[in-house]
Amino acid sequence: TSVLSNTAPRQKTQLEGIRQKVFIDRYSLKDTSGQPMEQHPEDMWARVARGIASVEETDEKRAIWQERFYDALSDFQFVPGGRILAGGGTGHQVTYYNCYVIPSPDDSRQGILDNLKVMTEIMARGGGVGINLSTLRPRGSYIKTVNGTASGPCSWAQLYSVATGDVIQQGGSRRGALMLMLDDTHPDIEEFITVKKKPGMIEHANLSVCVSDAFMKAVKDDADWQLTWQGEVRKTLKARHLWDLICKSAWESAEPGVVFMDRCNKEANTWYYENIRCVNPCGEQPLPEWGVCNLGALNVAAFVTNGEMNWQRLAEISKVAMRFLDNVIDATGYFFDENREAQLGTRRTGLGTMGLADALIKMRVAYGSAASIPVIERIYSTIRDAAYEASIEIASEKGSFPRFESDKYLQGKFIKRLPKTLQEKIKKHGIRNAVLLTQAPTGTTSLLSGVSSGIEPVFDFAMIRRDRTGEHILYHHLLQEWRDAHPNEPTPSYFVSSKDLSPEEHVRVQGTIQRYTDASISKTVNAPNSHTVEQVEDLYRMAYEMGCKGVTYYRDGSRDAVLTRIEDE
Ligand code: 5AD
Repeated sequence: TSVLSNTAPRQKTQLEGIRQKVFIDRYSLKDTSGQPMEQHPEDMWARVARGIASVEETDEKRAIWQERFYDALSDFQFVPGGRILAGGGTGHQVTYYNCYVIPSPDDSRQGILDNLKVMTEIMARGGGVGINLSTLRPRGSYIKTVNGTASGPCSWAQLYSVATGDVIQQGGSRRGALMLMLDDTHPDIEEFITVKKKPGMIEHANLSVCVSDAFMKAVKDDADWQLTWQGEVRKTLKARHLWDLICKSAWESAEPGVVFMDRCNKEANTWYYENIRCVNPCGEQPLPEWGVCNLGALNVAAFVTNGEMNWQRLAEISKVAMRFLDNVIDATGYFFDENREAQLGTRRTGLGTMGLADALIKMRVAYGSAASIPVIERIYSTIRDAAYEASIEIASEKGSFPRFESDKYLQGKFIKRLPKTLQEKIKKHGIRNAVLLTQAPTGTTSLLSGVSSGIEPVFDFAMIRRDRTGEHILYHHLLQEWRDAHPNEPTPSYFVSSKDLSPEEHVRVQGTIQRYTDASISKTVNAPNSHTVEQVEDLYRMAYEMGCKGVTYYRDGSRDAVLTRIEDE
């Protein structure tokens, strides 16, 4: 299937319907008058493969990797993040990074405005931004210079949100994406948990509570919990009171999310040199201040034929994808020196997946069932091992990431769970990338690729389409294929939609994949409308105990427009 090989030229792919529209609108290269110059994905694959191979050192290597990259991209086997697909090989000075965390603002009006400026510069170029606002003094604190009182982080959060929604959205085609976080010890945390309930408040940011291990222990022990500012206790309450508030709010309105931040730091491969304070807007990337990450997804459904996963091919393409994402770090533009410095020291990549649900259907395994767990483990351990193998190989060729310190890196919790052979190879050759793996939502790129998004189950197998001739039921393509082949037979049980799953099954899949993922995971745990607040508390506890780094929860009917949000990502 290579573009450069001597086999008979293949006819170019003609995408249909929404896939072609997404391709033309979002990814096809445009001329200066905005006319698309690429009509087929092959044109895009060739451009991106050439662009990302161009940072290799010699003509020979450029040629080899251009061909391998094209092969991996073809038929949407490996799908880089949308920014790379749109910008790769164009020569345009755009950023290929989706994920950014910027420093917490200085606790002053000037500090906040400087911080907002950094945020808007990144968003204008299409990056999603995460900010932990815990540096801002609580509402009601005295401000000496103006002899007044502070409005607190929740009211500043509204300014960040309005800047994201009203300023950025009008500029470009992409929406700005913002994550705002607050620590579980901040005196304004109760206000933060409930602030979105006020009409018009913070409509353009995702909110998540930064949850510590000490807090989770206090909840378990039914202990007191102190809210503090600069070491001074401002309020003491029951940890369970705060926990109830978080769970009740998620139950009512799907916000805020929780991020187990101590867990993120303790598990991080970078534990010995950086402090992770926040996550990007969809939650898959815990990052230090100025940290960035570039994304790419293996379309695992593309490796299944006749019910069988081609494990060898999955591993091969995972390795090529790793090389590709490492090259992206050198091919992208940077517009803040702080980002360049942070990333060139760490070389963080986010290799993830899409099409998991479709892959399981093709393998006739019910997503979330007990039988699915070993299959999921095999998929994600295959990818993990191949990615680490590739990063070690690149290190022996091009050098380890500059902040690599063998003894410390090998003490990392995640690293210690790698197969011993990989640990030995890291010791011998080093490793090119500090952090390699993530699971992003892959909203628009999975639409382009025609498969289920990220690690999510299929949302619905039947959709109603209305046109001049009336209403038509449109089936998921795998279900339609099955129906065509087996008319009048009952639908097999492996056609599982997110609504068929219990919330615990959602969490079990997330927790399983987390064990093989060194960064974090974006996943929505869907619950039926009848779910209770107590059940949410048990569910979150289960997620914590299974090793998840965060949870986002959505109770059916608790709020609308969740699907549109996924597509906008
Ligand atoms: N924290 C983390 N992720 C979030 N998402 C939405 N809100 C939050 C939040 N507060 C993510 C969901 C979904 C994606 C589109 O956005 O997990 O997968």
